Amino acid sequence: MIERRKLEQILPEINYDEAKVPLREVPSALIMNNGQRVDNAWQWMNLRRPEIMDFYRREVFGETPAMPEMMKHEILSVKDDALDGRAIRKEIKMTFSHRGNSRSWTMLLYIPKNAKGKVPVTLGLNFRGNHAASPENDVIMTGRKCDGSWVEEQRGIQSDRWEFANVIGRGFASATVCYHDIFPDFAAGEAWKQSIYGLLYPEKSPAELNAKYSAIGAWAWGLSRMLDVLSSEEKIDCSRAMVTGHSRLGKTALWAGANDARFSVVVSNDSGHGGAALFRRCLGENIEVLVTNFPHWFVSGFDKYVGKDADLSFDQHFLLSLIAPRFLCIGSATEDLWADPKGEFLAGLHASEVYRLFGATGMPVTEHPAPDVNVTGEVSYHLRTGAHNILWQDWDHYLTVAETVFGCKLLKK
Ligand code: GCU
Repeated sequence: MIERRKLEQILPEINYDEAKVPLREVPSALIMNNGQRVDNAWQWMNLRRPEIMDFYRREVFGETPAMPEMMKHEILSVKDDALDGRAIRKEIKMTFSHRGNSRSWTMLLYIPKNAKGKVPVTLGLNFRGNHAASPENDVIMTGRKCDGSWVEEQRGIQSDRWEFANVIGRGFASATVCYHDIFPDFAAGEAWKQSIYGLLYPEKSPAELNAKYSAIGAWAWGLSRMLDVLSSEEKIDCSRAMVTGHSRLGKTALWAGANDARFSVVVSNDSGHGGAALFRRCLGENIEVLVTNFPHWFVSGFDKYVGKDADLSFDQHFLLSLIAPRFLCIGSATEDLWADPKGEFLAGLHASEVYRLFGATGMPVTEHPAPDVNVTGEVSYHLRTGAHNILWQDWDHYLTVAETVFGCKLLKK
């Protein structure tokens, strides 16, 4: 293992100055490993896309966890008058069993009460527990640290990130699970043992697991399992599913979208490096910081790219292009230079050449849009004025995109 520098040594070197961004060419996602260029959607889907998937599985986010021997779910609670009578709330326990052991987590779900017919669904993971995401004080607490204590004891503390009442008001069901319940977000070996990998591969050490798997891989897998369970909800139309994620969970939403084509709208909110941002601009966070602070987010071999950000043979537009031709929303915030808003925009722009193979446009503009202007194409972008966060202004844009994609606007007329 390579000796890592301390964060205090790395942070003073971080660049926030656009004038110091190296002017490196961005490699085309369309060039195959053998140097040939793909020029149609069939070649993309069958030849080039699998190469990029393989690359991300091997070098970045790891293999997808296997399916456990058994997965079942059980409705723990149903509340018919949630959110001031506007929603039906369910809490659903999902249990995974494998070779005599099990792991469980609880999904919080809100469904619009007066919907006629099936509704589309938006789903994502939360940082601090279902009780922290919901404004209601009787939601079951979830989200434990490795020692069993709660990550967050205060209820409702992140409810402005979920805006359940407003999302329901737009006619969407909304579901969430706390990400710590799938893989506790800590670098310690104990987190690996308690994670879904500990269930599936109990004989492997954390180091062996980290060589092949990652926390982001586990969280992304968890999003797909949530969708599996949502498919059995008779009021939900899972063919109209949007996956969202903020920050590290935005990185996760992108990887979930790459792995699971059932997510027809994929939302990356302030996902930054390892998410939508181009590494090669060297603005804000870099690979060294990521693998120093969060070695478990990536496979251990990802550290071979430390110090090489500017000259990578790939970059994050490759990840974004895995979602083509499905809809992709990229959101940034003006004060979030750590996540490099312009780099997030440019990755979306560069991924658009893949969308063009499908007769789509991708990103409809070529210049980084002014703050608070939404640009909407198969690849959408907006730069919200303010700090690193996901707020109603962001949701409003994502839901507007999803409404168009899912035809809700047409249905309402
Ligand atoms: C840190 C990390 C980012 C990450 C963010 C978050 O800032 O460096 O990569 O996106 O945490 O998840 O909040």
